[in-house]
Amino acid sequence: MGLNAFVPTWKTHGLVKSNSLERHHTGKLVSAQRPTRQRHVVSAPLMKAAEQRVLVLGGTGRVGTETIKALARITPVPLSISVAGRDRSKGHRICRMLTTSNQNERTDLPPVDYHFKSVDITDESALIKLIKAHDVVIHTAGPFQRSKNPTGVLEAAMQANVPYMDICDDLIHAKECKKLHEVALSKGYTALISTGIYPGLSNLMAVEAASLMGTEPVKSLKIYYHTAGTGGIGATVLASTFLILSEHATCFDTHGREQKLPPAGNPEVIDFGGKLGKVTTYLLNLPEVVSLHENVFNGSPGTEIFAKFSTGPPIWNWLLQMMARRTPKSWLANRPAMLAFSKFSLPVVRAVDLLSGALTAMKIVAEGPTSSIIYSFEHDSLAECVGEATASFAVELVKKRLEGGQKGLAPGINYPEELSPDIRKHIIKNASRSANLFESTRYSSGRNWE
Ligand SMILES: NC(=O)c1ccc[n+]([C@@H]2O[C@H](COP(=O)([O-])OP(=O)(O)OC[C@H]3O[C@@H](n4cnc5c(N)ncnc54)[C@H](OP(=O)(O)O)[C@@H]3O)[C@@H](O)[C@H]2O)c1
Repeated sequence: MGLNAFVPTWKTHGLVKSNSLERHHTGKLVSAQRPTRQRHVVSAPLMKAAEQRVLVLGGTGRVGTETIKALARITPVPLSISVAGRDRSKGHRICRMLTTSNQNERTDLPPVDYHFKSVDITDESALIKLIKAHDVVIHTAGPFQRSKNPTGVLEAAMQANVPYMDICDDLIHAKECKKLHEVALSKGYTALISTGIYPGLSNLMAVEAASLMGTEPVKSLKIYYHTAGTGGIGATVLASTFLILSEHATCFDTHGREQKLPPAGNPEVIDFGGKLGKVTTYLLNLPEVVSLHENVFNGSPGTEIFAKFSTGPPIWNWLLQMMARRTPKSWLANRPAMLAFSKFSLPVVRAVDLLSGALTAMKIVAEGPTSSIIYSFEHDSLAECVGEATASFAVELVKKRLEGGQKGLAPGINYPEELSPDIRKHIIKNASRSANLFESTRYSSGRNWE
């Protein structure tokens, strides 16, 4: 038994009838559990592995901290984790909290320890020096939008020859990093970009949906997301969302032709199922639309692809629409202004978060001429599940370093959908460990699936 031993079990279900449509459950996660640290059965190279030094840039932020907590739960090898950020007192406080939570866990697990490292990611020489002292670097220090030097951290990691991954949710940033693919290939260097929950796990669900379609061509790939309020993550996500509103949403039409449509437009009511039910979603410019088009669905005659987003309560959707329509683009695209505005609006948003909760949901719909695959995901906390998903990608980078050879990830700058099917399946299973709902369903009688 290999590393598969620490992932939840998929159950295959038979055909069921619902609303006169013929449905077929292709896979369903039935045991949503609170995540706990677990002893894993590991492969021989991992059993002998020395402590791996992991650097988490933005480790003092909400996504970074949740990623570190999840890593401690699922790592098959001992880890020394550097929690990096600019704020020393916050960093030391978070390290103490992480150490205390570790002491409450079972002691027969791979040991994990934590240290704070002070760094500003814009200080190139300090960054390279810090990265060189590590085995893997995870970049969660957003916002990624409108960054002056989008490839700065990746290039520092390449120079230090330390495997890199990020949780970039910005199209321009991701495209700039991808341009370094050939250089990375020539050096045999590996990086993973745009990991996390969305993008990240959602890209893998889209590829899995396409593969479940078998020989049937995918005529459209529709990606829907919902997060209540901030989803419990940090202030930076507000700035990221405002900055994305400055861009038209890149989509692909039914002929596979690129289109740029107004942000927060094209409302569509979607039934996410689970606890969420029906909400209205709106177009947003997200990197997974373009990367999935380029890497998976760029064939003839072409696949329609778009991504839509909604937040809650509905007043936030209305305010985002107003911002997109009424605010000059030059303001929305101004990074310092949007960072300041996100800090200013945070107290009100946090107050509403108390009522709205942190629920997040994804629905990925792959449609062919005669059947569709619908992948559904729901989790009570965006913060928790983005940490779990990011850690699931990180474990694969750690394994690549230790196992190398044919088992490892391919060199190059890779989007999630470019991973091999076995790695994809490991990540999907690890990243959905504590989801309320995670299932794929085949509908085999036409397009009337809603
Ligand atoms: N792919 C996905 O699934 C996904 C999902 C959710 C969010 N995200 C993205 O994740 C990002 C982080 O979100 P979050 O909730 O963790 O935000 P957060 O709580 O505000 O944390 C941001 C972190 O970045 C650090 N940071 C910012 N600028 C830095 C700099 N110049 N040098 C060093 N560290 C710096 C901050 O540390 P100091 O301020 O202490 O230096 C802090 O640790 C956002 O951009 C968001 O869009 C991605």
